[in-house]
Amino acid sequence: TGYVTYDPGFMNTASTKSAITYIDGEAGILRYRGYPIEQLAQKSTFIEVSYLLIYGELPTPAQLDDFTNRIRRHTLLHEDLKRFFDGFPRNAHPMPVLSSAVNALSAYYQDSLDPRDPEQVELSTIRLLAKLPTIAAYSYKKSVGQPFLYPDNSLSLVENFLRMTFGFPAEPYEVDPEIAAALDMLLILHADHEQNCSTSTVRLVGSSDANLFTSVSGGINALWGPLHGGANQAVLEMLDEIKANGGDVKEFIRKVKNKEDGVKLMGFGHRVYRNFDPRAKLVKQCADTILGKIGGDDQLLDIAKQLEEAALNDEYFIERRLYPNVDFYTGVIYRAMGFPTRMFTVLFAMGRLPGWIAHWRELHSEPLKIGRPRQIYTGYTERDFIALDNR
Ligand code: CMC
Repeated sequence: TGYVTYDPGFMNTASTKSAITYIDGEAGILRYRGYPIEQLAQKSTFIEVSYLLIYGELPTPAQLDDFTNRIRRHTLLHEDLKRFFDGFPRNAHPMPVLSSAVNALSAYYQDSLDPRDPEQVELSTIRLLAKLPTIAAYSYKKSVGQPFLYPDNSLSLVENFLRMTFGFPAEPYEVDPEIAAALDMLLILHADHEQNCSTSTVRLVGSSDANLFTSVSGGINALWGPLHGGANQAVLEMLDEIKANGGDVKEFIRKVKNKEDGVKLMGFGHRVYRNFDPRAKLVKQCADTILGKIGGDDQLLDIAKQLEEAALNDEYFIERRLYPNVDFYTGVIYRAMGFPTRMFTVLFAMGRLPGWIAHWRELHSEPLKIGRPRQIYTGYTERDFIALDNR
């Protein structure tokens, strides 16, 4: 206790022990509960991965059935909470709408707030998993001024989300199975990433014994920043800009290298990966397949590929060991699916939710210790107060 270690940005400080996700940044390895991300992406489903992250094991068929059905029963939002969306301006970014509505769940579902009651924790877990896609879809509907749709619980979680997002009340909506499968896979890739900024936020808020809804709302806010989840929106804006300026990739890379106007190659670099982000490889494959199947802006994908190629062969990026991260190709896919750029980070939040929940529950499975970092004080030593007239 006599010594305080100074480690800005937690470069070398472990804030916790955890048994959920393993990353080897040098080797480009990512595993959830021991299962390689490549296997989960190819063979599992988002709902199954959510179960795995939260409860620690893959579900049996009966457990998966029960889990899915419990989630189905909680997809509706309280009617009063639906009106909450009316208070936001139509041009609001959907991320603050999402985090506010998630925080408001603490006001509407007061029977599941006690972090020390396992039944209440379970209920808030299911409520969050069920209601987040509904809230996410409503944040979109609000931004385009279209009517909200009630969930259709005959559909899967992802299908239901797509229908509530792109469907209309009086019209049948055919979910495109290719889009649903690709989105499901992308949600798996985003489902957890150990002590990233938003997950650490969820843990820190949770460490004060705050309830699950409000802790996750904090995580959503942390995710919004362009250095974290907001990067997927920033990547597409960057690609759009390069395209609008005639597609000069070399000129853009030159600007990045000279750090002109603080320009970064968004979607590149990672605190932990100093090698290929294994998720980026899977996303790139998905971009090729999905754009091949459903069409999309091939020119944007092309610019992204040229940027990647240029960066991977450039000394600036090689020296700093900067590789494409999970966000580099996702935006091209989301756009092809029909999502506006502003919804991209919301999709990240939907994917990251089971990870946040798993970490919050892991935190509470051990004796709770409030997160309270120390500091190195750099201000004045003692000085005497000066009366207002004398200043
Ligand atoms: N473009 C250009 N230069 C970069 C980039 C980039 N994308 N990323 C890092 N660098 C440079 C940085 O300027 C620094 O150079 P120098 O030594 O000359 O000052 C060096 O590489 C080390 O970077 P850092 O910022 O100290 O590394 P960090 O671990 O603190 O930051 C990062 C990691 C992800 C915030 C950063 O790489 C970045 O800003 N990337 C762009 C934003 C992005 O894509 N974020 C998504 C991350 S993955 C998904 C998620 O977590 O949400």
